[in-house]
This record gives sequence, C-alpha cells and structure tokens, in this order.
Amino acid sequence: MADKIEHLLEDLETFPPSDDFTSSSPVPADLMARAEEDRLGFWADQARELHWSTPFTEVLDWSDAPFAKWFGDGTLNASYNCVDRHVLAGNGDRVAIYWEGEPGDKRTITYSDLLGEVKRAANLLESLGVAAGDVVAIYMPMIPETVVAMLACARIGAVHSVIFGGFSADSIRSRVEDANAKLVITSDGSIRKGRIFPLKETVDAALEADGHTVEHVLVVRRADNEVSLTPGRDLWWDEEIAQVGDEHVAKPFPAEHPLFILYTSGTTGKPKGLLHTTGGYLTQTSFTHRTIFDLKPEQDVYWCSADVGWVTGHSYFVYGPLANGSTQVMYEGTHDTPDLGRWFDIIQRYGVTIFYTAPTAIRGYMKSGRQIPAKYDLSSIRLLGSVGEPINPEAWAWYREVIGGNRVPVVDTWWQTETGAIMISAIPSQVALKPGAAQVPVPGVVVEVVDDQGERVNPGEMGLLTITEPWPSMARGIYGDRERFIETYWSQFPGRYFAGDGAGVDKDGHLWLLGRVDDVMNVSGHRLSTTEIESALVDHPFVAESAVVGASDETTGQAVVAFVVLKESKKAEIEASDAPQVLRSHVSTKIGAIARPRQVYVVAELPKTRSGKIMRRLLRDVADGKAVGDTTTLTDASVMSAISAGVASGT
Ligand code: WT7
Repeated sequence: MADKIEHLLEDLETFPPSDDFTSSSPVPADLMARAEEDRLGFWADQARELHWSTPFTEVLDWSDAPFAKWFGDGTLNASYNCVDRHVLAGNGDRVAIYWEGEPGDKRTITYSDLLGEVKRAANLLESLGVAAGDVVAIYMPMIPETVVAMLACARIGAVHSVIFGGFSADSIRSRVEDANAKLVITSDGSIRKGRIFPLKETVDAALEADGHTVEHVLVVRRADNEVSLTPGRDLWWDEEIAQVGDEHVAKPFPAEHPLFILYTSGTTGKPKGLLHTTGGYLTQTSFTHRTIFDLKPEQDVYWCSADVGWVTGHSYFVYGPLANGSTQVMYEGTHDTPDLGRWFDIIQRYGVTIFYTAPTAIRGYMKSGRQIPAKYDLSSIRLLGSVGEPINPEAWAWYREVIGGNRVPVVDTWWQTETGAIMISAIPSQVALKPGAAQVPVPGVVVEVVDDQGERVNPGEMGLLTITEPWPSMARGIYGDRERFIETYWSQFPGRYFAGDGAGVDKDGHLWLLGRVDDVMNVSGHRLSTTEIESALVDHPFVAESAVVGASDETTGQAVVAFVVLKESKKAEIEASDAPQVLRSHVSTKIGAIARPRQVYVVAELPKTRSGKIMRRLLRDVADGKAVGDTTTLTDASVMSAISAGVASGT
C-alpha cells in the first residue's frame, strides 16, 4: 500500500460551472457549510423535506453500531411520499413516467395515474394476504408495473426484493429462499434485442422443488408468450387487479421499517441481501438526487438508464426521483435495438435534460463513433451523470463533448448497494469538475482514505476508502445475518465502514476511486464475485478446480476470465465436447448471462502458494497479456510458464 500515483499531484484542467448554471441552480449555496457546522442538524433538515406522519425528534441512534437508527421515532410512508404527496400538492397532471417499450409502444403516466395504479396494486397485495414485514420477490422487465409493484409493497409495509431480470432460476431460488418470500411478481416475458425472454418459465423452474415459502405468483402480461399457470398458485395481474377497489389509504410506518432487500455479490460464493429501511434511505436518495442533478422538477426530464434490478434503479429511478416529483423516462430495451441510435433518439424525442448512465456505455459509444449521436438533436441536455465504475478522463471528455455539446457539467458519482445513495460526487453548481475524479464527499458524509494500518494517506498516495461516520441511507445489515454485516464491512478498521475500494487523494484533497481491492469484479458496472463464479464452475462435472479473475477490458472495464483444471476421470466426455464453450454456458445458466466468462482457459494446474492459496494476481497478469509478476511464493514456478504459454497459443 501507499503506492504513489503521480498524476494526483499535478495541476489538472478543471471545469468550473458557468455563471448561468450556478445562478439558475435550485441548490442552496450554503449546503456544505451547513453540513460542516452541524452534521446531524443538516440531515434532519433534509429529512424534513419529506412528509412525516409523526415528526421525528431523534436524529441518529448509533448505540447499536454498526446498525444505525435514523429519525427513529418518526413515522412515514414511502409510497405516500413518492406519489400521493405530489398529487395532493396539485401536481397530479405532471408526468411521472414516459415509458417506452423496446418495440416502440409508449405509455405516459402522470402522478395521478400512478397513484391510481399503486392503490389498486396495494389492495391486490393485501387481498392475497401480504402484510407488513412480508417479503415480495419482484422478477420483472423494465415496465411500469415494476415500479407500481415496488411502490405497492412500500405502501403496505411489505419488503420488496427485486431480482434482476437477467438472473437464472438458481439465483431466483436462492434469493426467494434466503428471504422467505411469500409472493413472486413476474411477467410472462421480457422483450430485449427483439427477442422474448420467458421470465415466468424461469420463475417456474426456480419454484419447482418444494421447500420454499412462496404462496402465489402474480403474472403481468407483457410479451404475450405462452406461459403455464399452476392452479391455486399463479394469477394474472390484470385479471386480479380488475377486481379490487381503487381507494387505498397509506398507513405510516416507523422510519426504520424495512423497505427492501437487494442482493449483491461479495467476496464469498453467496450473494448478500442488503437491507434498507425507510426514512434515512428516502432522505439521502432524494437529497442527493435533487442536489447532484440540480433538479428542477417542474422543468426537467430526467433519465437514468439503469435497470431497476440494480441499486441504481432503486435509488435513482424509483425512490429518489419520485420522492422529488420528477418527470422521467423509463425504457424497456437495449441501447442497440433497432440500432445504436436508440438512446439518442429517446433523448431527442422526450427532450431529456438530465441523463445518468455508466462509463461502460460511454466507452461503447466511443468505439462505435460520434457519427451516431451526431445524427440527433441532444441540445435539451443540461447535465450528465456517471456511475458504476471509475470514469476514465478520456470517456469523461468524450461524454461532455459529444453528448453534452461541450457545455454541460458531467458529474461522477461514487456509491454502492451498501451505501444506498450517492456518497462522493461534486455538486455541479458549486464545485469545479475534474475529469476522472469522484471528487468530494456529499455534504453530511465523512470519508477518509487510509493505509493498511488505518493511518490517513498523504496526497498522491494510494489507500483504502473508509467512511468514518454513519449516514442516513446506509444498509441496516445483511438480511438474516447480523455477524456477517459486522465482519464484512466493519471489522477491517473497527468503528469505520470499509468500502472495498482503493482510492487516492489529490493535492486539492479530492478523491479518486481506483477500483476494488478485493475479489469483487466490476463488469459493465455490475458487481460479480470471483468466488461465486468459481463455485458455479466446479459445480460442473468436468471441473476439478477453477480460478476466476477480472481481466481489464476496453469496453466493460473488467471481463470475467476463468482458468479451469479438468477431471481426468471425465476425459472421454471432455474430448468429445468443446469444454470452454460448455462451461461458459454453464455459468450463464447457473448465475445469469452477465456472469458468462469472456474466456475459459483449460490449464494443467493452478498457481498456488505453499499454504494452498490460489494466486489470482498472476492469473490476472496472464489474462491481461502482461508480464507475469513475482512468482517467488509459488510452490512451483513452472506452473505459470505453462499457463502463459498455453494462453499465448490460444489453447
Ligand atoms: C462498486 C459498487 C453505485 C451503483 C452501481 C454499482 C464501483 C460505483 C463508482 C464510481 C468508481 C465506482 C465501486 C463500488 N463504483 N460507482 N463512480 N467510481 N467506482 O453498485 O453494484 O453495489 O457496486 O462499484 O467499486 O464499490 P454496486
């Protein structure tokens, strides 16, 4: 540790906000000062922007650290805050969602429409016996009913667990089991790249074996593909919702009432269900959404391209924007259907003003060329955001120039499933932007970059990112596993949250994120665990041992590369098949297509230390085509030369 990063000590070009931008910004100029002077008072002010049924008197209770209670004696309803409140304030006719399906079908949903749908859905859930505290799994495409389902859960105090629509039956099963879900909401299919993915069929496979707690499966019609319904268990959403009333009063719940569980990969084989609660989460998601994106709810058309299956979709498509009464775009399909201009076409047609996406998408467009966005009028854009992985300065510059017409701020935002909301970013009306850096903690957030010993590093040195004070949207634990939460995040540096990311501080004290320092990979801004993919590989009868690394990839940031040792006993079958191909699809079936390795290399042995630990670092060098690093701790250094030679010859 304490490696030097020279460029952090250099003078870099910065992009200060234009006078126009700052003078028309709705963001109060004294936020940072206010947060510094009275951190808890500052968060209490932000919380009071929400509607509380019972106002809180206590801001933070940290007595059971690291399990925080924020605004603990207050009560509120998340769905009321995201919908009813805006209708009651006279904004019922404001568009909440401009939805566009991949085939081109469209729906415009006002806040009044949304309220009607959420109320009916809440009645439907209650009629099925779903009560406060019950867990509802949601395995859906990007269609309005997905948002309606989430808000209906929140309205009745049920806890949603959204499972990304690209995950496999096994992944659904383990999540449904882990949280004892009572209900699954899915659709017949989802439409992506012009094809139909049979979501309901995948849910059926997940629930095939007994031993789960699911009582009903609600099926939304979307793709009109054929599905089979299990009598007594499965119900059509549209048929059921037609039978329930359209009035529903949202009851308040305590601020610490669970809102959702979201699973994410860690360093072990088993995904962790991070638990988020209501008051603090809504406070920080809405606060960061309106300040970092400089939101003017009556004018802006906001678009976050993330899928609702990831935390970005939860915080910056559903809860933050809706709590702020934003008008936003929701798009079902992929960016390249029918062609690579689709996103820009959407920006042009809806007049998108604020656009939030991931560096991997930007790099993909850089590769296909600026002539594609050049065909569209993107002049409505006034702010661009980035999330998911470090944005390299070249991608930042391209994003600003080609998509932002060389005039708009580009904000990088660092955060995690665990943090619930943005933690590090510049407020673009107040801070000069620096390409490649996430820059400064959000007001009210306190971070420190430290070395292995927990000592603060100097500017220009590489260290580990820690968060030293509790924040409102922090996860309240890993569902059902108190100890694992403490051990995973709070034990490396007692009393501090360790994010798993490397970081450096520049001469101005600004933060530069440098990627994960653990066995977590980041592929296209999606989090994958090396261990989880290794377990999927050794689960295949061909495989004796496996090691997975995140190799660098020009477009996706990292790519999954696997090294496997095959079983002698299966020699005949292996020779009769294309083992790497078989194993790539096996991982896809076990976890989901996002986890499919870019390459699978068959090797005779894996490089191990004398204590038997696999040296992934060396394998990463090979996968990156770099000279292999220090091999002195290996039991047998010739293992590495054999692997390198094999990879170079493409076997
Ligand atoms: C990990 C969290 C945050 C929502 C999407 C991913 C990486 C995320 C940035 C950024 C550098 C970033 C980190 C982090 N990451 N945003 N702006 N700069 N790295 O959420 O799946 O929980 O992944 O994504 O490595 O630990 P997630």
